[in-house]
Amino acid sequence: MRTNYCGDLRADAIGEVVTLTGWVDRRRDHGGVIFVDLRDRAGIVQVVFDPDGNEYFELADSIRSEYVLKVTGKVRARDDAAVNPNMVTGEVEVYGTELEILNKSETPPFQLDEYTNVGEDVRLKYRYLDLRRPEIADKLVLRSKVTSFIRNYLDTHGFMDIETPILCRATPEGARDYLVPSRTHEGKFFALPQSPQLFKQLLMVSGFDRYYQIAKCFRDEDLRADRQPEFTQIDIETSFMDEEGIMGITEGMIRDLFSEKMGVDLGEFPRMSFKEAADRFGSDKPDLRIPLEMVDVADLVADVEFKVFAGPAKDPKGRVACLKLPNGGNLLTRKQIDDYGKFVGIYGAKGLAWIKVNDLEAGVEGLQSPIIKFLGAEVAQAIVERLEAQNGDILFFGADKTKIVNEALGALRVKLGEDLNLYTHEWAPLWVVDFPMFEEVDGGYTSLHHPFTAPVCSPEELASDPENALSRAYDMVLNGAEIGGGSIRIHNPDMQREVFKALGISDEEANEKFGFLLDALKYGCPPHGGLAFGLDRIVMLMTDAQSIRDVIAFPKTQTAADVMTDAPGRVDSAQLTELNIRLKLKEKAKSEEGEG
Ligand code: AMO
Ligand code: AMP
Repeated sequence: MRTNYCGDLRADAIGEVVTLTGWVDRRRDHGGVIFVDLRDRAGIVQVVFDPDGNEYFELADSIRSEYVLKVTGKVRARDDAAVNPNMVTGEVEVYGTELEILNKSETPPFQLDEYTNVGEDVRLKYRYLDLRRPEIADKLVLRSKVTSFIRNYLDTHGFMDIETPILCRATPEGARDYLVPSRTHEGKFFALPQSPQLFKQLLMVSGFDRYYQIAKCFRDEDLRADRQPEFTQIDIETSFMDEEGIMGITEGMIRDLFSEKMGVDLGEFPRMSFKEAADRFGSDKPDLRIPLEMVDVADLVADVEFKVFAGPAKDPKGRVACLKLPNGGNLLTRKQIDDYGKFVGIYGAKGLAWIKVNDLEAGVEGLQSPIIKFLGAEVAQAIVERLEAQNGDILFFGADKTKIVNEALGALRVKLGEDLNLYTHEWAPLWVVDFPMFEEVDGGYTSLHHPFTAPVCSPEELASDPENALSRAYDMVLNGAEIGGGSIRIHNPDMQREVFKALGISDEEANEKFGFLLDALKYGCPPHGGLAFGLDRIVMLMTDAQSIRDVIAFPKTQTAADVMTDAPGRVDSAQLTELNIRLKLKEKAKSEEGEG
């Protein structure tokens, strides 16, 4: 039907007769001449209909926004004064000589341009219209280029694309499962995969030693800007390769991707241990674009009278740390400092003590702070010295259990970076390595990655000191976002049982849930490992999007619903009967059911 995409026309097409199809972005009437901005997925071009001897002029006069048109005309140069430098097609226009209205459109519920300011719920309800907006469409174009690049990279490195089931048994990745009832097995449920983890490991047992899949994963967890209940992984597994090999291939993939699609050289990714990341940045996914670091001061405050500091300083599980914001005393108002105090409260901090350095020469008189009276001059000055603070700097303090201090000051560091635009460079990738195997939760252990991750130590060492065991896991972090994570896996059934034991999973439960894996490990399982990237997060970073919703064609809302198709929806009682399910609704849902 068409000869060219609207958005592809440039000066080199001047003189050509083209046929375009697309939607009316805007129609303007200028003293009898009609200008139509015609849009397709490639972009927008201006079409002109002039009344002189043009049999289609009247038809052109009748078109409205979002009508679907087929236009034929000659590409011509715009007058110098009419060249639009903000449009990639701005040097040219099409002089329309033929016009067909392929379909009409009602007035859309919101304006389809970058200035649209309707709520996201309206945009999501009419997502098919929202996707016409070039701001959103361009992100999906890039996403498609990214997946194509990745397939190509992995194909040329000998990886095979293999699909794994969607109806499965639960694979524990730490979130709640989405369940699907079985009609043919009364009272039983499938779980949607939180990841293809166990299947990809089984493919290694089968001998497909380089696997990948662009895989949908499902996790019923609390949503945030970088989390969707249904998201996509670039899932990778290999046999006979160690950490170095796997990290090398996947780092190469991300570096080449950024170089080719963004013209960005990410360089060689530095590596940092989990412990160093926690100590210096209070996070296992530090944003290294921000030049602020936490410094321990527990030894300086252990004997002060101020219990808020002395308590955690003496507690082996406590931490007292300080974050210096250079020139912060000048940059921040008192109200902003108080607001940051409230902000760290979100992470459980009970306060945010601070010291402003007004005049170093003046000794303690030159320091301003609500806590100097509790610390004493000597301690306050020792802290200022350790932090190498200069006039104008402000020091923020966190004192509590280590976890709370890290989370609170870690989040404050990121917030200060954002609020004050402290970034020293645009892209900061790194690998975080040497994770602990377990973290303590409510007196028991849970896996920091997943229960199939190999420890660095022997089964005996793991049994005797699980708390200090390190794992062979690695995460890739970019600009403070975890974009991928993986590990070398356990390939020995005894080691797997030992890990289950440490997690409080009995042999019986292990056999019931993971018997197939424990069996497979017995039949010549090769040493193996892999990694999975969050595709949505990578594209979100590449497009500088505010949320991963912007890089997913049909995303879910914050409450994990699809407002366009109204999913999840109710099902009729016949369907439930077939599934042997009886609903036990809370009062509110019951009354909605009645109304429905
Ligand atoms: P993990 O749970 O770390 O590892 O997930 C891998 C990557 O997937 C992305 N991701 C998400 N993206 C959007 N929304 C979510 N809800 C979400 N959850 C995770 C992140 C993360 O780094 N099977 C292991 C991988 C392995 O060991 O090979 C796994 O799933 O970017
Ligand atoms: P208070 O004696 O509770 O008024 O606290 C004095 C100062 O210490 C205030 O600036 C508080 O914000 C701060 N503060 C209180 N608890 C903590 C804490 N756990 N960590 C850091 N600062 C705190």
